[in-house]
Amino acid sequence: MESEVKAQEGEEKPSKSKIRIDTKDLVVRFGSIVALNSFSVGVPEGIVGLLGPNGAGKSTFIKAVLGLVNAEKGTISIDGLDPRKDITAVRDMVGYLPEHDCLITYLNAVELVSYMGQISGMSLKDAIQRTHEVLDFVGTGEERYRLISSYSTGMKQKVKLAQAIVHDPKILFLDEPTNGMDPQGREEMLELIKKIGASGKTILVSTHILQEVEKIGEHVIIINDGALIKEGSIKTLMIGEKNIFKIKIRGSQEGILGFGKALSEIAQVISTEDEEGQQTMVFKTTGDESKVFALASEKGIQIRDFGPATRTLEDIFIEAFKKGGA
Ligand SMILES: Nc1ncnc2c1ncn2[C@@H]1O[C@H](COP(=O)(O)OP(=O)(O)OP(=O)(O)O)[C@@H](O)[C@H]1O
Ligand SMILES: [Mg+2]
Repeated sequence: MESEVKAQEGEEKPSKSKIRIDTKDLVVRFGSIVALNSFSVGVPEGIVGLLGPNGAGKSTFIKAVLGLVNAEKGTISIDGLDPRKDITAVRDMVGYLPEHDCLITYLNAVELVSYMGQISGMSLKDAIQRTHEVLDFVGTGEERYRLISSYSTGMKQKVKLAQAIVHDPKILFLDEPTNGMDPQGREEMLELIKKIGASGKTILVSTHILQEVEKIGEHVIIINDGALIKEGSIKTLMIGEKNIFKIKIRGSQEGILGFGKALSEIAQVISTEDEEGQQTMVFKTTGDESKVFALASEKGIQIRDFGPATRTLEDIFIEAFKKGGA
């Protein structure tokens, strides 16, 4: 696997804009719970973060795309195939690391991973050979011959990754792959995902940890309450944040309050922070940010600092949630 990944690194990378997974108006309900509410999104090639808090609908989205839960409405396409109709073709094309324990614990890693390879259509011989390659790749040593029931959480996660890639799928769904792992284990898992992603696959990684997406992802899909909040390449999302400024002001309580109120009438105030008699405000203008100087002098307050705000994915995430009403 390692050598295969390296061999492919030199190849010309496919266009990142190619959409691999496409859903339109997907609706999934569990009784009265609407887990996906008319969810439409395009997942491009590359490593894509599916980001959202607990209960947002991340796992349901993955399962719906894989045809593992029923969507009552909407369309799904994986490389042009419908997982509900083209069951075998889709199964061979995708790999899946589920969120919860999926390992047969009375098998050892070699038995389990080679079994999964055979289910995906590999011969026993190929499956065994490939099993050892992927177990080497994820860093499982001699313990591969021990029963999975004796494995640590970190080892189980790595074996879950190995079974997802044994048949060399084009598209990988990793549902919270770092779940339960310690910091070092998380780093190792993220490195493995990056290596797999370098070979031009599409990897959809669900997580509620922003920093993980920033470390490995190129594109992010933010979901909450079964709805799409925001999506795009991380770079574009950040560059797209134009006309956002940060101002630090000082003055009387009355002056600061008056300035805040007046600012909110000409700009969208994103955040306000008080710190030892000083207030920091981040706001988005529709154009003329110089008006804030006139406002400040009108309200008798002092501007201590003013300039474009440096935004992180976290800022975008928090703002998106405020807008989404979360
Ligand atoms: N099998 C089920 N039966 C009933 N409700 C379900 C079922 N699966 C999911 N839900 C509900 O659907 C909503 C979306 O759940 P989902 O598991 O997709 O969220 P998630 O983003 O993966 O959350 P987490 O970060 O906790 O894994 C939640 O309200 C959840 O309680
Ligand atoms: Mg989940």
